[in-house]
Amino acid sequence: MDPKVLAFIVVPIVAAVPLASIFLVPLLWRTIGSVLGWYVRRKTEGRRAQIVELMDGDVRRHNERTRQPTSSSSGSSSSSDESDGWENVDASTAGTASNGEKGEEDWDGIVGFFHPFCNAGGGGERVLWAAIRATQQRWPKAKCVVYTGDHDASKDAILARVENRFNIHLHPPTVNFLYLSTRHWVLASTWPHFTLAGQSIGSLIMAWDAFSLLVPDVFVDTMGYAFALGLCKFLFRDVPTGAYVHYPTISTDMLDSLNPESAVGDQGVNAGQGVGRRGAIKRAYWNLFAKIYSLMGASVDVVMTNSTWTQAHIQKLWGPLRRESSQKANNPIVVVYPPVAVSEMEQEIEVSQESESKREKVLLYLAQFRPEKNHQLILQSFAEFVKTKTEAAKDARLVLIGSVRDDHDSKRVYKLRLLVNELHIRDRVEFHLDASWPDILDWLRKASVGVNGMWNEHFGIGVVEYQAAGLIAVVHNSGGPKLDIVVDVDGEPTGYHATNSTEFAEGFEKALSLPNPSAVRLRARQSAKRFTEEEFAKRWITQMEALVALRKQSVAATAAKKR
Ligand SMILES: *[C@@H]1O[C@H](CO)[C@@H](O)[C@H](O)[C@H]1NC(C)=O
Ligand SMILES: *[C@@H]1O[C@H](CO)[C@@H](O)[C@H](O)[C@H]1NC(C)=O
Repeated sequence: MDPKVLAFIVVPIVAAVPLASIFLVPLLWRTIGSVLGWYVRRKTEGRRAQIVELMDGDVRRHNERTRQPTSSSSGSSSSSDESDGWENVDASTAGTASNGEKGEEDWDGIVGFFHPFCNAGGGGERVLWAAIRATQQRWPKAKCVVYTGDHDASKDAILARVENRFNIHLHPPTVNFLYLSTRHWVLASTWPHFTLAGQSIGSLIMAWDAFSLLVPDVFVDTMGYAFALGLCKFLFRDVPTGAYVHYPTISTDMLDSLNPESAVGDQGVNAGQGVGRRGAIKRAYWNLFAKIYSLMGASVDVVMTNSTWTQAHIQKLWGPLRRESSQKANNPIVVVYPPVAVSEMEQEIEVSQESESKREKVLLYLAQFRPEKNHQLILQSFAEFVKTKTEAAKDARLVLIGSVRDDHDSKRVYKLRLLVNELHIRDRVEFHLDASWPDILDWLRKASVGVNGMWNEHFGIGVVEYQAAGLIAVVHNSGGPKLDIVVDVDGEPTGYHATNSTEFAEGFEKALSLPNPSAVRLRARQSAKRFTEEEFAKRWITQMEALVALRKQSVAATAAKKR
């Protein structure tokens, strides 16, 4: 055959392949997902019905036992027992709901919380339980199920621990646990090489395990398993997904550390460049991983982060792809601060004009004796401050309170004491090691200023505690204390930022020479209110409402199609 004729035939075919693949592959991909999803749903329909029936039975029995009208608890007497307390606690938060249509509170779908280590008792778990409680209060008929790998813990045991550890009372009938048998797949020890990728594959296996137990109506991950959320979207397009991110799985800092000039989306990773072949492979691997991670993140309907720091990192990774999807662009990545026990401080510590007389010229530094807390900087700053011999510096004392975990900590404390001698501030500095909580509260009551010397602390719960106790904060000008905590209230400062000893000394001077300190204390306390449990619940519910609305939309769309 004439080669020209051949070319006329072959070229269009060759050209058609990539064109077709651009259009057909996504279609094929979606179809595979839908078919698999349909299969999983069918297979688990029976179990879902069983679980719903079981929980409905629990609700009925609970209502019979307490013999209380469930419709409105807000106006009822407060004679109910502890387990009912949860309904009353949050009348204020749930109150926003009544502005909406009547049927709003009646949503009775299943919210699946993906939290395979739910019995760990850490900060991440406090968020999970507070989130479930808020959800229960907003939608009393909704069912919350937690996918967990804690086989050794029964529902009763877990709920008891939640009460003891966090003082959070969940409503038992509408929360349940589904046990995963595949948790070992996400342990770092299972994946000695390529841990990031391995754990992500592990989380896919675990999520498949979860959906094989029950397909929820709304799926929320509270542990940072973005791949599980991606799988959910792949299988069930009608299940809205939510992420609460504490920490990015891969951060742009990590990527930058390998590749100074290159941003995440850089295509031009050059294998011949950089620090040898190993470095190049690692960089390619991390970049590829970051891309897939971003793809997963872009599929998530509602994204929350625990701090501004995390928000900025997630925004960099997930933001660009999310903006391309108009619907996701409507749901920006928001900060939902984790709940801090601010209310306890408010109850325990008075902040008013009268209590001002009980405050002493004490600078308090509440921190473990860890190197990054930079106690030296604070001692040097304090010595500089004392040297100024100003009115404010007269009789000022520095109190260091912290736990000593091991020999290293003890050694550090010893060195700090030596430094105190060298700086000639021995009669002005006190160490209180392993102080009890009542003692700490006492110091928070009588101190004037709260200090934090750590560079780039991600958050700083201690600083929130200072503010809640009415202390004027003098903190490092970086990280969470700068971005999230010690910020202006009504355009007025709640404390001071500093980077070196000179600036810290200036901060102490300013904080101790305020003409009207109690005004600043009250502002600081106001500032801490952003981190209360109530505030968390409010913000959480706003995001959950978006998810529930999406679910209602897709259910309505399916119904319309059937008609
Ligand atoms: C967010 O989570 C990370 C990782 O657990 C933690 O280091 C950080 O302190 C958290 N931020 C807040 C505001 O609790
Ligand atoms: C502290 O920082 C300020 C502002 O950056 C600078 O002017 C000053 O010289 C610094 N002081 C010391 C002791 O480094």
